[in-house]
Amino acid sequence: MPTVEYLNYEVIDDHSWDMDDEALFEKAADAGLGSEDYGSLEVNQSEYILEAAEAQGYDWPFSCRAGACANCAAIVKEGEIDMDMQQILSNEEVDEKDVRLTCIGSPATDSIRIVYNAKHLDYLQNRVIWIFH
Ligand code: FES
Repeated sequence: MPTVEYLNYEVIDDHSWDMDDEALFEKAADAGLGSEDYGSLEVNQSEYILEAAEAQGYDWPFSCRAGACANCAAIVKEGEIDMDMQQILSNEEVDEKDVRLTCIGSPATDSIRIVYNAKHLDYLQNRVIWIFH
C-alpha cells in the first residue's frame, strides 16, 4: 500500500525552514514533532488522502470536499498524487508548484511526501473558505 509521509506547513513556517530544502523531511524527522505534525500514513490507491488522514484520527483542514476551494491543499515534495476534476488551481500551480487537493487526491506512486496545511501559503489564500465556529 502506498505510504504518504506528511509534514504540517505551520511547522515549516514556525521554524522558518525552506520549503525547497532537500533535507526538509529529515529535519522534520529529527525535530521531535508530534504525529499530528509529522509522520506517515498508509493510503490505498483508490482512497483520498484527506480521508485516510481522518481515518487515522487526524484533523486536517478542509471545507468543500469537492475540489472547489484551497482549504485541503498540500504540496507534493516527492512522488505523485492524481486528482479528480478540479477547477480551482491553475495549471502552473499543479504542474510547477505541485499543489494538490487532498480531498480529491489519491496516491499515484508508492512513496509520497507532502506538506499538508498548505492553505497558509500566500498564493492560495484567496481561495480558502473561512469557516467561523
Ligand atoms: S476541501 Fe475544498 S477542495 Fe478539498
